Amino acid sequence: MKTALITGASSGIGKELAIAHAQKGGDLVIVARRKEALENLKFALQDQYGIHVEVITQDLSEKDAAQKVFEQIIEKKIKIDYLINNAGFGDNVLFEDSSHVRNNNMLQLNITALTDFCHLFVQHWIAHSFQGKIMNVASTAAFQGVPYFAVYSATKAYVLSLSEALSLELKSNNITCTALCPGPTKTEFAKNSNMNPAFTENKMLPSAAAVANYGYKKMMRGQTVAIPGIFNKAGTTSGKFFPRKMTAYVAGQVMKKANDL
Ligand SMILES: NC(=O)c1ccc[n+]([C@@H]2O[C@H](COP(=O)([O-])OP(=O)(O)OC[C@H]3O[C@@H](n4cnc5c(N)ncnc54)[C@H](OP(=O)(O)O)[C@@H]3O)[C@@H](O)[C@H]2O)c1
Repeated sequence: MKTALITGASSGIGKELAIAHAQKGGDLVIVARRKEALENLKFALQDQYGIHVEVITQDLSEKDAAQKVFEQIIEKKIKIDYLINNAGFGDNVLFEDSSHVRNNNMLQLNITALTDFCHLFVQHWIAHSFQGKIMNVASTAAFQGVPYFAVYSATKAYVLSLSEALSLELKSNNITCTALCPGPTKTEFAKNSNMNPAFTENKMLPSAAAVANYGYKKMMRGQTVAIPGIFNKAGTTSGKFFPRKMTAYVAGQVMKKANDL
């Protein structure tokens, strides 16, 4: 049975990805900072699905965090088949008012830890002739610059670009790479990204479970870019028909409202 490593599995999309994998009978390594939330999920999934769940409590915005997690996995002789880089946060703020520390934590989590995990597992898989699947959670914010969400949207553009490149580069090694690009989804993301929580409380928005199940299916198929929802798909293709400046302006107006900026 396949084992998935999922970062940011203590809530939202990551938690639902863990449930989706457990439902298939797969074992898990779940990583985040909130130990209690991870332990609760571990016992619930082990009881319900008879799988094994390993908890690793780690702040992934710390230096060398991915390396530390990787070393624990190797020490415990766990073979990871699916790497799911889901942990992330944003900051809905005027760039000039943003915090230097918070920006650096975001870059470390959304970019550095994600890249390190990809690098460590790709090298490991290739050295052992293992097949593997990677899912990197990007965002619809990856498709254009987003004023008032500038650093976050730039991190997600990086995630999308890296994933597209790796998907092609790793094909001959039987390793797939999928960028899951959700639009607004009902999770703790708004609260954790300085947005008005009402932004993700809209009843029309998809649930974390719907997005996770969609992404999990696309990862299993090895699809390179996975955008859940017809409106998100339409929105991300608008860059083909309108000037980039215009799509960035429209996205910025949405984010300006999301925090009354
Ligand atoms: N919800 C949306 O509208 C939306 C839209 C597009 C993309 N996304 C992306 O989807 C992914 C999942 O977000 P979500 O919506 O599920 O939000 P969420 O409910 O806030 O979940 C974020 C997860 O990341 C973990 N995390 C945050 N900082 C961390 C750190 N320093 N070290 C380790 N883990 C950390 C959190 O766990 P701990 O707090 O326990 O550490 C939590 O499990 C993110 O990459 C986000 O950018 C979300």
